[in-house]
Amino acid sequence: MTTQMEMQQKLEALREKETVRILAMESSCDETACAIIENGRKIVSSVIFSQVDTHALYGGVVPEIASRAHVDACDRVIDQALKEAGMTFGDVDALACTYGPGLVGALLTGVNCMKGLSYTTRLPLVPVNHIEGHVSANFLTTQDLEPPFICLVVSGGHSHLVRVNDYGDYTLLGQTVDDAAGEAFDKAARVLGLNYPGGPLLSKLAEGGNDTYLTLPHPHPDGRYDFSFSGLKTAFLNACHKMDQKGEELPKADLAASFEKAVVDTLCERAMLALKDSGLNTLCLAGGVSANKRLRTQMEQLAKKRHFRLCMPELWLCTDNAAMIGSAAYYRLRKGELAGLDLNAVPALSLV
Ligand code: KG4
Ligand code: ZN
Repeated sequence: MTTQMEMQQKLEALREKETVRILAMESSCDETACAIIENGRKIVSSVIFSQVDTHALYGGVVPEIASRAHVDACDRVIDQALKEAGMTFGDVDALACTYGPGLVGALLTGVNCMKGLSYTTRLPLVPVNHIEGHVSANFLTTQDLEPPFICLVVSGGHSHLVRVNDYGDYTLLGQTVDDAAGEAFDKAARVLGLNYPGGPLLSKLAEGGNDTYLTLPHPHPDGRYDFSFSGLKTAFLNACHKMDQKGEELPKADLAASFEKAVVDTLCERAMLALKDSGLNTLCLAGGVSANKRLRTQMEQLAKKRHFRLCMPELWLCTDNAAMIGSAAYYRLRKGELAGLDLNAVPALSLV
């Protein structure tokens, strides 16, 4: 029997199994992570090795350094995840890994590591889309959450508004026409002299600031649910440069608060429009930017006022982790999806 046929048979058996444990790996950017997840909902163990201190020296992620660091860390995070769970590969039913979108070298490290493990352990390997992983972080935090719902996915590389019709079934409603929300946060933070990743630092700085200090444009791209952050970012950079040229000291907290307000207002406005038009009553947030305090608070206020159900991943599940990949993999496995040993990294993989 070929390896592929053997894996397919195992996967078929797992579709009926009551308890399915998946060991998942995430390596699409600068976090090497491994987690063991039961039935898509329960975190048995989770390990995240962040490379952020290394990349902070360069002001952003250096792809080649990220790939090498993943190679160094992958065995360690897998061992640690098994150890924390008190398990061996004999207790695991399937493997999963992110195969896109992300940095090609970083993705390849995880994909190759898991293909090798799949071959040696004879465990089926489930391929996972990183953005689907972010959406699935909500299944780990809100145990009774079921599709359909609307999800606002805002990370360093992506800003999407999607209708989650069913597990693994999405309709793309809107997306950014230029920069991603997290990318805009990181660029604005850099102008304020903050290090990488700037989003959380800018947000901290904004806490004591006056958010009406600077009025920023409120772009409306053609698509009803689309976002645009590039004009906002440029207006912000120009305002800062002008003050700099005049020798004025930058009121950093006020600038940070004004910028954060502009981004969060846009995200809330588009999400409300999509939710209202859909006729659905549940909105989920996902991705690194969903850890933003102002976004979470503003959405909570809207949920109270407009009577919809708001779900947000726990803070640590908003940014990159492997637990969310293990959750997404469970629902893919239930549909019978399996990666062959020819699985490749797909850096520009889309969700829909
Ligand atoms: O989802 P993620 O960890 O990685 C990608 O898939 O891109 O998102 C990282 C992004 C970075 O741009 C980071 O600055 C932003 O999320 N971010 C935040 C906050 N925490 C992370 N942005 C604003 N406020 C935060 N608290
Ligand atoms: Zn991510």
